[in-house]
Amino acid sequence: MQFRTIIEPFRIKSVDALKFTTRDERVAALAAAHHNVFLLRGDDVLIDLLTDSGTGAMSAAQWSALMQGDETYAGSRSFYRFEQVVRDLTGFRHVIPTHQGRAAERILFHTVVKSGDIVPNNNHFDTTRANIEVEDAEARDLVIAEGRQPALVHPFKGNIDVDALAALLDREADRVPLVMVTVTNNSGGGQPVSMANLRAVRTLCDRYAKPLFLDACRFAENAWFIREREDGYHRLAPRDIAREMFGLADGCTMSAKKDGLANIGGFLAMNRDDWAEHCRNLLILTEGFPTYGGLAGYDLEAIARGLEEVVEEPYLRYRIRSTAYLAEKIAAAGVPIIQPPGGHAVYIDARALLPHIPPLQYPGIALVNALYVEAGVRAVEIGTVMFGLDPDGREQPAAMDLVRLAIPRRVYTQSHVDYVAEAVVGVAAMKDALGGYRIAAAPKVLRHFTAEFEGM
Ligand SMILES: Cc1ncc(COP(=O)(O)O)c(C=O)c1O
Repeated sequence: MQFRTIIEPFRIKSVDALKFTTRDERVAALAAAHHNVFLLRGDDVLIDLLTDSGTGAMSAAQWSALMQGDETYAGSRSFYRFEQVVRDLTGFRHVIPTHQGRAAERILFHTVVKSGDIVPNNNHFDTTRANIEVEDAEARDLVIAEGRQPALVHPFKGNIDVDALAALLDREADRVPLVMVTVTNNSGGGQPVSMANLRAVRTLCDRYAKPLFLDACRFAENAWFIREREDGYHRLAPRDIAREMFGLADGCTMSAKKDGLANIGGFLAMNRDDWAEHCRNLLILTEGFPTYGGLAGYDLEAIARGLEEVVEEPYLRYRIRSTAYLAEKIAAAGVPIIQPPGGHAVYIDARALLPHIPPLQYPGIALVNALYVEAGVRAVEIGTVMFGLDPDGREQPAAMDLVRLAIPRRVYTQSHVDYVAEAVVGVAAMKDALGGYRIAAAPKVLRHFTAEFEGM
Protein backbone atom coordinates (compact mmCIF):
# COMPACT_ATOMS: atom_id res chain seq x y z
CA MET A 1 0.00 0.00 0.00
CA GLN A 2 1.01 3.58 -0.60
CA PHE A 3 0.10 5.62 2.50
CA ARG A 4 -0.74 9.30 2.28
CA THR A 5 -0.67 9.78 6.03
CA ILE A 6 2.76 10.62 7.37
CA ILE A 7 2.78 9.65 11.03
CA GLU A 8 4.94 11.04 13.82
CA PRO A 9 8.07 8.85 13.63
CA PHE A 10 8.15 8.26 17.39
CA ARG A 11 6.10 6.97 20.32
CA ILE A 12 5.50 9.09 23.40
CA LYS A 13 7.20 7.83 26.54
CA SER A 14 6.73 10.74 28.91
CA VAL A 15 4.05 13.42 28.92
CA ASP A 16 3.81 16.96 30.21
CA ALA A 17 0.28 18.08 31.18
CA LEU A 18 -1.13 21.21 29.58
CA LYS A 19 -2.88 23.81 31.72
CA PHE A 20 -6.25 25.00 30.42
CA THR A 21 -7.29 28.59 31.16
CA THR A 22 -10.49 30.54 30.56
CA ARG A 23 -10.71 33.51 28.19
CA ASP A 24 -11.11 35.86 31.20
CA GLU A 25 -7.97 34.44 32.78
CA ARG A 26 -6.07 34.99 29.55
CA VAL A 27 -7.30 38.59 29.23
CA ALA A 28 -6.00 39.23 32.76
CA ALA A 29 -2.70 37.42 32.11
CA LEU A 30 -2.09 39.43 28.93
CA ALA A 31 -2.87 42.73 30.67
CA ALA A 32 -0.42 41.81 33.44
CA ALA A 33 2.14 41.05 30.70
CA HIS A 34 1.66 44.57 29.24
CA HIS A 35 0.16 43.00 26.12
CA ASN A 36 3.49 41.44 25.18
CA VAL A 37 3.26 37.64 25.00
CA PHE A 38 6.98 37.37 25.74
CA LEU A 39 6.11 38.54 29.27
CA LEU A 40 3.50 35.82 29.90
CA ARG A 41 4.17 32.89 32.19
CA GLY A 42 4.55 29.71 30.16
CA ASP A 43 1.97 28.00 32.37
CA ASP A 44 -0.68 30.42 31.12
CA VAL A 45 -0.12 29.25 27.53
CA LEU A 46 -1.93 26.23 26.12
CA ILE A 47 -0.06 25.64 22.85
CA ASP A 48 3.24 27.47 22.74
CA LEU A 49 4.38 28.34 19.23
CA LEU A 50 6.48 31.31 20.32
CA THR A 51 9.60 29.64 19.05
CA ASP A 52 11.05 26.39 17.82
CA SER A 53 14.26 27.25 19.65
CA GLY A 54 15.19 25.05 22.59
CA THR A 55 11.60 23.85 22.87
CA GLY A 56 11.99 20.45 21.19
CA ALA A 57 11.59 17.05 22.82
CA MET A 58 14.76 15.04 23.19
CA SER A 59 14.83 11.39 22.24
CA ALA A 60 15.37 8.53 24.69
CA ALA A 61 18.81 8.17 23.14
CA GLN A 62 19.60 11.81 23.91
CA TRP A 63 18.39 11.47 27.50
CA SER A 64 20.56 8.44 27.99
CA ALA A 65 23.48 10.26 26.35
CA LEU A 66 23.18 12.82 29.14
CA MET A 67 24.38 10.14 31.54
CA GLN A 68 27.55 9.84 29.48
CA GLY A 69 28.31 13.51 30.12
CA ASP A 70 31.86 14.05 31.29
CA GLU A 71 32.02 17.20 33.41
CA THR A 72 35.79 17.51 33.32
CA TYR A 73 36.60 21.24 33.12
CA ALA A 74 39.31 20.96 30.48
CA GLY A 75 39.54 18.25 27.85
CA SER A 76 36.22 16.58 28.61
CA ARG A 77 35.49 13.38 26.72
CA SER A 78 32.08 14.82 25.84
CA PHE A 79 33.75 17.72 24.06
CA TYR A 80 35.80 15.41 21.86
CA ARG A 81 32.70 13.45 20.91
CA PHE A 82 30.84 16.70 20.14
CA GLU A 83 33.80 18.03 18.15
CA GLN A 84 34.01 14.84 16.11
CA VAL A 85 30.30 14.88 15.24
CA VAL A 86 30.42 18.56 14.23
CA ARG A 87 33.60 18.02 12.21
CA ASP A 88 32.16 14.99 10.42
CA LEU A 89 29.06 16.97 9.53
CA THR A 90 30.55 20.33 8.61
CA GLY A 91 34.13 19.56 7.70
CA PHE A 92 35.29 22.65 9.62
CA ARG A 93 38.61 22.36 11.46
CA HIS A 94 37.86 24.51 14.49
CA VAL A 95 34.80 23.71 16.58
CA ILE A 96 34.02 26.15 19.37
CA PRO A 97 31.06 25.33 21.65
CA THR A 98 28.90 28.20 22.87
CA HIS A 99 25.87 28.38 25.15
CA GLN A 100 23.63 29.28 22.19
CA GLY A 101 23.68 30.78 18.72
CA ARG A 102 23.92 34.43 19.64
CA ALA A 103 27.08 33.82 21.67
CA ALA A 104 28.67 32.35 18.52
CA GLU A 105 27.51 35.44 16.61
CA ARG A 106 28.85 37.87 19.19
CA ILE A 107 32.24 36.18 19.30
CA LEU A 108 32.51 35.92 15.52
CA PHE A 109 31.43 39.48 14.76
CA HIS A 110 33.50 40.99 17.56
CA THR A 111 36.48 39.21 16.03
CA VAL A 112 35.97 40.05 12.34
CA VAL A 113 33.68 43.11 12.05
CA LYS A 114 34.81 46.68 12.64
CA SER A 115 33.04 50.03 12.66
CA GLY A 116 31.70 51.00 9.22
CA ASP A 117 31.74 47.45 7.84
CA ILE A 118 28.85 45.86 5.97
CA VAL A 119 27.80 42.24 6.51
CA PRO A 120 25.54 40.93 3.73
CA ASN A 121 23.11 38.07 4.35
CA ASN A 122 19.86 36.88 2.80
CA ASN A 123 18.03 38.12 5.92
CA HIS A 124 19.74 38.66 9.22
CA PHE A 125 17.95 37.22 12.20
CA ASP A 126 17.32 39.73 15.01
CA THR A 127 20.24 38.60 17.20
CA THR A 128 22.56 38.43 14.19
CA ARG A 129 21.62 41.95 13.18
CA ALA A 130 21.99 43.25 16.74
CA ASN A 131 25.42 41.65 17.15
CA ILE A 132 26.60 43.35 13.95
CA GLU A 133 25.07 46.72 14.77
CA VAL A 134 26.61 46.71 18.23
CA GLU A 135 29.99 46.75 16.42
CA ASP A 136 28.79 49.93 14.65
CA ALA A 137 28.53 48.02 11.37
CA GLU A 138 25.66 47.51 8.95
CA ALA A 139 23.69 44.26 8.57
CA ARG A 140 22.48 44.33 4.97
CA ASP A 141 19.66 42.07 3.79
CA LEU A 142 20.01 40.92 0.18
CA VAL A 143 17.32 38.27 -0.18
CA ILE A 144 15.91 37.84 -3.70
CA ALA A 145 12.89 40.02 -4.58
CA GLU A 146 10.62 36.93 -4.53
CA GLY A 147 11.57 36.45 -0.87
CA ARG A 148 9.88 39.73 0.00
CA GLN A 149 6.52 38.86 -1.57
CA PRO A 150 4.60 36.69 0.91
CA ALA A 151 2.05 35.19 -1.48
CA LEU A 152 4.45 34.44 -4.31
CA VAL A 153 5.40 30.79 -4.66
CA HIS A 154 9.07 30.10 -5.37
CA PRO A 155 11.00 26.98 -4.32
CA PHE A 156 13.93 28.84 -2.78
CA LYS A 157 12.70 32.15 -1.43
CA GLY A 158 15.66 32.26 0.95
CA ASN A 159 18.14 32.70 -1.91
CA ILE A 160 20.46 35.66 -1.79
CA ASP A 161 20.25 38.13 -4.68
CA VAL A 162 23.55 37.27 -6.34
CA ASP A 163 23.56 40.39 -8.56
CA ALA A 164 23.02 42.62 -5.55
CA LEU A 165 25.82 40.84 -3.69
CA ALA A 166 28.11 41.19 -6.71
CA ALA A 167 27.31 44.90 -6.93
CA LEU A 168 28.05 45.37 -3.23
CA LEU A 169 31.36 43.51 -3.47
CA ASP A 170 32.25 45.41 -6.63
CA ARG A 171 31.70 48.80 -5.01
CA GLU A 172 32.59 48.23 -1.37
CA ALA A 173 34.56 45.01 -0.98
CA ASP A 174 36.85 46.72 1.53
CA ARG A 175 33.95 47.15 3.91
CA VAL A 176 32.78 43.52 3.72
CA PRO A 177 34.67 41.27 6.18
CA LEU A 178 32.56 38.17 5.40
CA VAL A 179 29.39 37.07 3.67
CA MET A 180 26.65 35.29 5.64
CA VAL A 181 23.80 33.09 4.38
CA THR A 182 21.05 31.97 6.76
CA VAL A 183 19.72 28.44 6.18
CA THR A 184 16.79 28.34 6.32
CA ASN A 185 15.95 32.02 6.22
CA ASN A 186 14.03 32.52 9.46
CA SER A 187 13.26 36.25 9.17
CA GLY A 188 12.11 35.74 5.60
CA GLY A 189 9.65 32.97 6.42
CA GLY A 190 11.81 29.91 7.12
CA GLN A 191 12.50 29.69 3.41
CA PRO A 192 15.29 27.51 2.02
CA VAL A 193 18.39 28.44 0.05
CA SER A 194 19.25 26.31 -2.96
CA MET A 195 22.57 24.61 -3.47
CA ALA A 196 22.91 26.48 -6.76
CA ASN A 197 22.55 29.77 -4.91
CA LEU A 198 25.12 28.75 -2.29
CA ARG A 199 27.46 27.78 -5.10
CA ALA A 200 27.00 31.14 -6.83
CA VAL A 201 27.69 32.97 -3.57
CA ARG A 202 30.80 30.82 -3.08
CA THR A 203 32.05 31.78 -6.54
CA LEU A 204 31.61 35.47 -5.74
CA CYS A 205 33.32 35.05 -2.37
CA ASP A 206 36.26 33.39 -4.11
CA ARG A 207 36.46 36.21 -6.65
CA TYR A 208 36.65 38.84 -3.90
CA ALA A 209 38.54 36.65 -1.40
CA LYS A 210 35.76 36.85 1.20
CA PRO A 211 34.96 34.12 3.70
CA LEU A 212 31.45 32.68 3.52
CA PHE A 213 29.72 31.73 6.77
CA LEU A 214 26.41 29.94 7.17
CA ASP A 215 23.97 30.82 9.90
CA ALA A 216 23.23 27.11 10.08
CA CYS A 217 20.48 26.90 12.74
CA ARG A 218 18.15 24.95 10.44
CA PHE A 219 20.66 23.31 8.11
CA ALA A 220 18.85 19.95 8.13
CA GLU A 221 15.49 21.45 7.15
CA ASN A 222 17.28 23.34 4.37
CA ALA A 223 18.91 20.11 3.20
CA TRP A 224 15.50 18.43 3.06
CA PHE A 225 14.07 21.22 0.91
CA ILE A 226 17.03 20.89 -1.46
CA ARG A 227 16.33 17.16 -1.67
CA GLU A 228 12.67 17.78 -2.44
CA ARG A 229 12.99 20.75 -4.78
CA GLU A 230 16.37 20.88 -6.50
CA ASP A 231 17.31 18.74 -9.47
CA GLY A 232 19.92 16.12 -8.80
CA TYR A 233 19.34 15.79 -5.06
CA HIS A 234 16.24 13.56 -4.80
CA ARG A 235 18.16 10.41 -4.09
CA LEU A 236 20.79 11.82 -1.76
CA ALA A 237 20.74 11.39 2.00
CA PRO A 238 19.93 14.65 3.85
CA ARG A 239 23.22 14.32 5.71
CA ASP A 240 25.19 14.26 2.45
CA ILE A 241 23.31 17.30 1.19
CA ALA A 242 24.07 19.09 4.46
CA ARG A 243 27.73 18.21 4.10
CA GLU A 244 27.76 19.65 0.61
CA MET A 245 26.19 22.87 1.93
CA PHE A 246 28.81 23.19 4.66
CA GLY A 247 31.50 22.29 2.15
CA LEU A 248 30.76 25.48 0.23
CA ALA A 249 31.35 27.64 3.33
CA ASP A 250 34.35 28.62 5.42
CA GLY A 251 32.54 28.50 8.72
CA CYS A 252 29.21 28.69 10.49
CA THR A 253 27.36 29.92 13.50
CA MET A 254 24.89 27.45 14.92
CA SER A 255 22.16 27.41 17.51
CA ALA A 256 21.85 23.77 18.56
CA LYS A 257 18.45 24.72 20.02
CA LYS A 258 17.02 24.24 16.54
CA ASP A 259 18.50 21.54 14.33
CA GLY A 260 20.74 20.36 17.15
CA LEU A 261 17.55 18.95 18.71
CA ALA A 262 18.80 20.16 22.09
CA ASN A 263 17.29 22.49 24.66
CA ILE A 264 20.42 24.64 24.92
CA GLY A 265 23.73 25.03 23.13
CA GLY A 266 25.38 26.15 19.97
CA PHE A 267 28.73 26.42 18.28
CA LEU A 268 30.97 28.43 16.06
CA ALA A 269 33.00 26.49 13.53
CA MET A 270 35.49 27.63 10.93
CA ASN A 271 38.65 26.86 9.02
CA ARG A 272 40.66 30.06 9.57
CA ASP A 273 43.25 29.55 12.28
CA ASP A 274 43.81 33.21 13.20
CA TRP A 275 40.09 33.95 13.59
CA ALA A 276 39.59 30.76 15.58
CA GLU A 277 42.36 31.67 17.99
CA HIS A 278 40.87 35.11 18.58
CA CYS A 279 37.39 33.61 19.00
CA ARG A 280 38.63 31.08 21.55
CA ASN A 281 40.20 33.87 23.59
CA LEU A 282 36.91 35.77 23.59
CA LEU A 283 35.13 32.55 24.50
CA ILE A 284 37.27 32.14 27.60
CA LEU A 285 36.42 35.71 28.61
CA THR A 286 32.65 35.24 28.71
CA GLU A 287 31.57 31.67 27.93
CA GLY A 288 34.15 29.33 29.36
CA PHE A 289 37.10 27.14 28.50
CA PRO A 290 37.18 26.07 24.82
CA THR A 291 36.25 22.45 25.61
CA TYR A 292 32.91 23.40 27.16
CA GLY A 293 32.09 26.98 26.07
CA GLY A 294 29.38 27.59 28.67
CA LEU A 295 27.80 24.14 28.33
CA ALA A 296 27.74 21.14 30.61
CA GLY A 297 29.37 17.95 29.35
CA TYR A 298 25.91 16.40 29.19
CA ASP A 299 24.69 19.23 26.92
CA LEU A 300 27.53 18.44 24.51
CA GLU A 301 26.45 14.78 24.51
CA ALA A 302 22.80 15.69 23.82
CA ILE A 303 23.79 17.97 20.92
CA ALA A 304 26.13 15.39 19.43
CA ARG A 305 23.34 12.83 19.39
CA GLY A 306 20.79 15.43 18.19
CA LEU A 307 22.95 16.37 15.20
CA GLU A 308 22.88 12.72 14.16
CA GLU A 309 19.12 12.30 14.60
CA VAL A 310 18.16 15.53 12.86
CA VAL A 311 19.33 14.36 9.44
CA GLU A 312 17.38 11.10 9.59
CA GLU A 313 14.95 10.84 6.70
CA PRO A 314 11.77 9.82 8.63
CA TYR A 315 12.26 12.72 11.03
CA LEU A 316 12.74 15.33 8.31
CA ARG A 317 9.86 13.99 6.22
CA TYR A 318 7.50 14.25 9.22
CA ARG A 319 8.90 17.60 10.30
CA ILE A 320 8.44 19.39 7.00
CA ARG A 321 5.10 17.68 6.29
CA SER A 322 3.59 18.63 9.66
CA THR A 323 4.43 22.30 9.08
CA ALA A 324 2.92 22.12 5.59
CA TYR A 325 -0.20 20.43 7.04
CA LEU A 326 -0.86 23.41 9.34
CA ALA A 327 -0.19 25.83 6.49
CA GLU A 328 -2.61 24.05 4.17
CA LYS A 329 -5.42 24.14 6.72
CA ILE A 330 -4.96 27.84 7.39
CA ALA A 331 -4.54 28.80 3.75
CA ALA A 332 -7.58 26.74 2.69
CA ALA A 333 -9.68 28.99 4.94
CA GLY A 334 -8.39 32.06 3.11
CA VAL A 335 -5.90 33.30 5.72
CA PRO A 336 -2.92 34.88 3.91
CA ILE A 337 0.36 33.14 4.70
CA ILE A 338 3.83 33.09 3.27
CA GLN A 339 3.82 30.58 0.47
CA PRO A 340 5.17 28.02 0.26
CA PRO A 341 5.33 27.34 4.02
CA GLY A 342 8.74 27.30 5.66
CA GLY A 343 10.34 24.38 7.43
CA HIS A 344 9.94 25.27 11.08
CA ALA A 345 7.00 27.62 11.04
CA VAL A 346 3.95 28.98 9.31
CA TYR A 347 4.04 32.74 8.81
CA ILE A 348 0.73 34.60 8.63
CA ASP A 349 0.77 37.84 6.66
CA ALA A 350 -0.75 40.05 9.35
CA ARG A 351 -0.48 43.18 7.19
CA ALA A 352 -2.63 41.56 4.51
CA LEU A 353 -5.08 40.08 7.01
CA LEU A 354 -5.51 43.33 8.96
CA PRO A 355 -5.24 46.13 6.37
CA HIS A 356 -7.15 48.50 8.66
CA ILE A 357 -4.24 48.45 11.16
CA PRO A 358 -1.30 50.51 9.82
CA PRO A 359 2.19 48.97 10.25
CA LEU A 360 3.13 51.51 12.92
CA GLN A 361 0.16 50.28 14.96
CA TYR A 362 1.58 46.77 14.77
CA PRO A 363 -0.90 44.45 13.06
CA GLY A 364 1.30 41.52 14.05
CA ILE A 365 0.92 42.29 17.74
CA ALA A 366 -2.86 42.65 17.29
CA LEU A 367 -3.04 39.17 15.76
CA VAL A 368 -0.66 37.55 18.25
CA ASN A 369 -2.61 38.96 21.19
CA ALA A 370 -5.98 37.88 19.78
CA LEU A 371 -4.67 34.34 19.22
CA TYR A 372 -3.61 34.18 22.83
CA VAL A 373 -6.82 35.60 24.26
CA GLU A 374 -9.17 33.52 22.12
CA ALA A 375 -7.30 30.21 22.11
CA GLY A 376 -4.34 30.25 24.48
CA VAL A 377 -2.01 29.88 21.49
CA ARG A 378 1.21 31.88 21.71
CA ALA A 379 2.75 33.05 18.43
CA VAL A 380 5.29 35.81 17.77
CA GLU A 381 5.34 39.01 15.74
CA ILE A 382 8.09 39.18 13.13
CA GLY A 383 7.55 42.62 11.74
CA THR A 384 7.65 46.28 12.61
CA VAL A 385 8.15 45.80 16.35
CA MET A 386 11.02 43.40 15.74
CA PHE A 387 12.68 45.18 12.83
CA GLY A 388 11.16 48.67 12.55
CA LEU A 389 13.52 50.58 14.84
CA ASP A 390 16.64 51.90 13.10
CA PRO A 391 19.86 52.21 15.09
CA ASP A 392 19.43 56.02 14.86
CA GLY A 393 16.15 55.75 16.77
CA ARG A 394 13.81 56.33 13.83
CA GLU A 395 10.91 53.96 13.37
CA GLN A 396 9.63 52.78 10.01
CA PRO A 397 7.50 49.85 8.82
CA ALA A 398 9.42 46.61 8.41
CA ALA A 399 9.39 44.98 4.97
CA MET A 400 6.61 42.65 6.15
CA ASP A 401 4.38 42.30 9.20
CA LEU A 402 4.28 38.59 9.88
CA VAL A 403 3.04 36.41 12.69
CA ARG A 404 5.07 33.27 13.09
CA LEU A 405 3.63 30.01 14.36
CA ALA A 406 6.85 28.17 15.13
CA ILE A 407 6.51 24.44 15.64
CA PRO A 408 8.64 22.91 18.41
CA ARG A 409 10.33 19.72 17.26
CA ARG A 410 8.67 16.40 18.19
CA VAL A 411 6.39 18.07 20.79
CA TYR A 412 2.86 18.51 19.46
CA THR A 413 0.64 15.90 17.83
CA GLN A 414 -1.67 16.27 14.86
CA SER A 415 -4.66 17.12 17.08
CA HIS A 416 -2.71 19.98 18.66
CA VAL A 417 -2.00 21.23 15.15
CA ASP A 418 -5.69 20.87 14.22
CA TYR A 419 -6.60 22.96 17.25
CA VAL A 420 -4.12 25.68 16.23
CA ALA A 421 -5.56 25.77 12.71
CA GLU A 422 -9.06 26.14 14.15
CA ALA A 423 -7.84 28.96 16.41
CA VAL A 424 -6.21 30.87 13.54
CA VAL A 425 -9.22 30.53 11.29
CA GLY A 426 -11.55 31.60 14.13
CA VAL A 427 -9.49 34.69 14.97
CA ALA A 428 -9.20 35.60 11.28
CA ALA A 429 -12.99 35.58 11.10
CA MET A 430 -13.13 38.29 13.78
CA LYS A 431 -10.41 40.42 12.14
CA ASP A 432 -12.55 43.55 11.79
CA ALA A 433 -12.90 43.72 15.57
CA LEU A 434 -9.12 43.77 16.15
CA GLY A 435 -7.41 47.09 16.83
CA GLY A 436 -3.82 48.35 16.79
CA TYR A 437 -1.34 48.99 19.57
CA ARG A 438 1.13 51.66 20.63
CA ILE A 439 4.38 51.11 22.49
CA ALA A 440 4.25 52.45 26.05
CA ALA A 441 7.84 51.52 26.97
CA ALA A 442 10.67 49.73 25.18
CA PRO A 443 14.46 49.35 25.26
CA LYS A 444 16.51 50.63 22.30
CA VAL A 445 17.88 47.24 21.24
CA LEU A 446 15.88 44.02 20.64
CA ARG A 447 12.80 45.84 21.87
CA HIS A 448 10.30 43.13 20.97
CA PHE A 449 11.35 40.94 23.89
CA THR A 450 10.40 43.38 26.63
CA ALA A 451 8.35 46.22 25.07
CA GLU A 452 5.15 47.17 26.85
CA PHE A 453 2.09 47.79 24.65
CA GLU A 454 -1.23 49.61 25.06
CA GLY A 455 -4.31 49.09 22.90
CA MET A 456 -5.14 52.11 20.69
C1 LIG B 1 18.39 32.23 11.98
C2 LIG B 1 18.78 32.37 13.42
N1 LIG B 1 20.01 32.79 13.73
C3 LIG B 1 20.41 32.90 15.01
C4 LIG B 1 19.57 32.62 16.06
C5 LIG B 1 20.04 32.80 17.47
O1 LIG B 1 20.16 31.59 18.17
P1 LIG B 1 19.99 31.52 19.76
O2 LIG B 1 18.56 31.80 20.07
O3 LIG B 1 20.40 30.14 20.13
O4 LIG B 1 20.88 32.55 20.37
C6 LIG B 1 18.26 32.20 15.78
C7 LIG B 1 17.35 31.90 16.89
O5 LIG B 1 16.15 31.88 16.79
C8 LIG B 1 17.87 32.06 14.43
O6 LIG B 1 16.64 31.64 14.09
